[in-house]
Amino acid sequence: MNRREFMTWAGAGLLASSLPVALAACSSTVTSNASPSPGALPVPGATAEEGALRPIASLTDLKPGIPFEGKIDGKPFAISGDPKKPESIVAVNPTCTHNGCVVPWNAQSKQFVCPCHGASFDDSGKVLQGPAEKSLASYVIQVKDGKILTKA
Ligand code: FES
Repeated sequence: MNRREFMTWAGAGLLASSLPVALAACSSTVTSNASPSPGALPVPGATAEEGALRPIASLTDLKPGIPFEGKIDGKPFAISGDPKKPESIVAVNPTCTHNGCVVPWNAQSKQFVCPCHGASFDDSGKVLQGPAEKSLASYVIQVKDGKILTKA
């Protein structure tokens, strides 16, 4: 076996041995060992397939000017809006779009303010101040029977 043949065999072997790991990394199955944080709701049907709508809050959880925060499958969310106007309700992932820090709500300034580099966002996730340039990611939500549902 010459050098070229050896490298071909070694490359194929490496590819074959890493394929299961690569497939697992690309899997869309969502699992979480995260313990519920304060305000987090249990997720009924934790084995529900990804994409199924799951309740993450009730309309009664929404308070004027204070996003309702929690986690779903370990991912943070913050829900804002007027419970009397379901179309105004938004759910964002308060993970900074600049460099990934979790962005807490600042009750005094009524903004999400990033502790890392100072970016700020309004309660719907829109950038108010850089260095972040993109709005916070939002979850697709649906309001039904007094519950706020999302596909996480
Ligand atoms: Fe938020 Fe840099 S990570 S401003």
